[in-house]
Amino acid sequence: MDLKSLIREIPDFPKPGILFRDITTLLRDPDGLRYTIDSLTQKCKDTFPEVDYVVGMESRGFIVGTPLAYQLKAGFIPVRKPGKLPAEVHSIEYQLEYGMDRLEVHKDALQPGSRILIVDDLIATGGTAAATAKLVQQAGCNLVGFGFIIELRDLGGRGYLPDVPIVTLIEY
Ligand code: PRP
Ligand code: ADE
Repeated sequence: MDLKSLIREIPDFPKPGILFRDITTLLRDPDGLRYTIDSLTQKCKDTFPEVDYVVGMESRGFIVGTPLAYQLKAGFIPVRKPGKLPAEVHSIEYQLEYGMDRLEVHKDALQPGSRILIVDDLIATGGTAAATAKLVQQAGCNLVGFGFIIELRDLGGRGYLPDVPIVTLIEY
């Protein structure tokens, strides 16, 4: 299936110079949605045979990560923007393609030794995924790899990630 044809491109959003890859048009398409989740599931099953938890980043990482966790028979752990999680959190500041932000995760969600797969819709500069990896590894978890629908290769994000396998479906 031609997934790229289902991803809309919006120039200069949210800031001048950014070409925004909009997955809402892919998610809205029943066949596109099914194919995306099924393909990511199969690739992740092949690459990561043992996953205890999928960690997904707010907000598009929730959309992709939760059905993937379900398919992998893993649990799902949300990494959220500041002030959203009610219990004690680990927190980390990070650089986004278009600004700075902070991510938080519940302390008791990350148990040492857990096998974790980090999942998001897209990797651009890698700031979000690298920060999430730090949260996971600083808690003593075993980061097995990353899964993304889209990789923006020119931005070199994978160069900022720990040396574990990375699964992607589409590259630009
Ligand atoms: C987007 C995207 C990734 C991140 C990738 O999220 O969903 O999480 O940017 O960029 P990076 O590799 O340069 O860090 P965004 O922060 O825009 O939030 P959203 O998911 O709530 O739209
Ligand atoms: N997140 C960071 N950069 C992005 C882009 N170019 N398109 C969509 N989401 C993004």
